Amino acid sequence: METLESVVARELGHEGIGRLVAAFYRRMREDELVGSMYPDDDWDGSEERLRDFLRFRLLGDPVYQLKRGHPRLRGRHMPFTIGEAERDRWLEIMDAAMEDSAVSEAARAVLRPFFAQVADFMRNADGT
Ligand code: HEM
Repeated sequence: METLESVVARELGHEGIGRLVAAFYRRMREDELVGSMYPDDDWDGSEERLRDFLRFRLLGDPVYQLKRGHPRLRGRHMPFTIGEAERDRWLEIMDAAMEDSAVSEAARAVLRPFFAQVADFMRNADGT
């Protein structure tokens, strides 16, 4: 069985992750429900953090860890109220970004469950 990491390395690589995250924030900036949670004066910083994190987690690139230390993602999402609606919106925007940036079907098939699992782990509020 091919791993998530090997499929992403072959199908996206460093540049493909950069294109995906750029497409994600183009949409996220316009989003009322979840986009409004991000600091409005640091969109480039948000893009850099997610891009570095995905390159770290999926390709083993050390830059994220050098800049930010251990990811502690759940703790870092605690200041924001994340229920089912917010989780689902984040995933919808990521799905649309994969379409925009022409991520291959093979890569989407491994990335969708990865994003869904991490996003569900970020939930810290009851769904409405
Ligand atoms: C479930 C819905 C989610 C919401 C509402 C959400 C929202 C946010 C917000 C508002 C920030 C702070 C702004 C920033 O530092 O950029 C943030 C940071 C971050 N998020 Fe999320 N996020 C979600 C899911 C995810 C998922 C699924 C991932 C990874 C696959 C992720 C990765 C990150 C990373 C890496 C950071 C920066 C952490 C750091 O400070 O180094 N988030 N998120």
